[in-house]
Amino acid sequence: MKRSKIAGLLLAGMAALTTQAAFSGPNEVAIETRQGYMKMVKFNAGPLFGMAKGKMDYNAALATELAGNLLQLSEMKTGRMWREGSSDDDYAETDALIEIWAQSEKFLTREQAFKEAVATLEPVASQGVEALRGKVRDLGKSCKGCHDTFRAE
Ligand code: HEC
Repeated sequence: MKRSKIAGLLLAGMAALTTQAAFSGPNEVAIETRQGYMKMVKFNAGPLFGMAKGKMDYNAALATELAGNLLQLSEMKTGRMWREGSSDDDYAETDALIEIWAQSEKFLTREQAFKEAVATLEPVASQGVEALRGKVRDLGKSCKGCHDTFRAE
């Protein structure tokens, strides 16, 4: 690698570190954490959507593993991730709409729908793609049900 290229990479790395340092209060940490949480949810739900849609071969062992991970994620208490004052009105880095706090009961209802969708999916994940399909549809609806109202486009 050329010296100039290495220097350029180092500078880019330092710039990234500086940005990181500026972005480190409790609201910022909550934002990063909930985005990480959502990434984990997607990482586990994604292949289930793929299997249900026939874009991916059904695999009972994998479906069981993913559904089990989702169950654990859905059982986590997530209240601290949703700090009041950390909406997209306050921070450019988030897509969380102020409605989360303005309509907090509705938000909790949406979260509950997600928990229930996962809890009904998990026991049938190993029982074939037909059994999985309807439950995965409900899971997808639970994501959309929340995102439609509480997440910016
Ligand atoms: C109770 C509400 C709620 C439910 C249920 C929900 N989400 Fe989210 N999701 C959000 C909000 C709000 C954001 C924006 C978070 C932010 O930017 O701070 C988000 C962001 C995301 C992101 C972007 C994360 C990033 O990289 O910034 C993904 C991916 C995602 N959700 C996937 C899912 C999937 C898949 C499901 C269902 C299996 C789901 N979500 C269920 C509210 C929800």
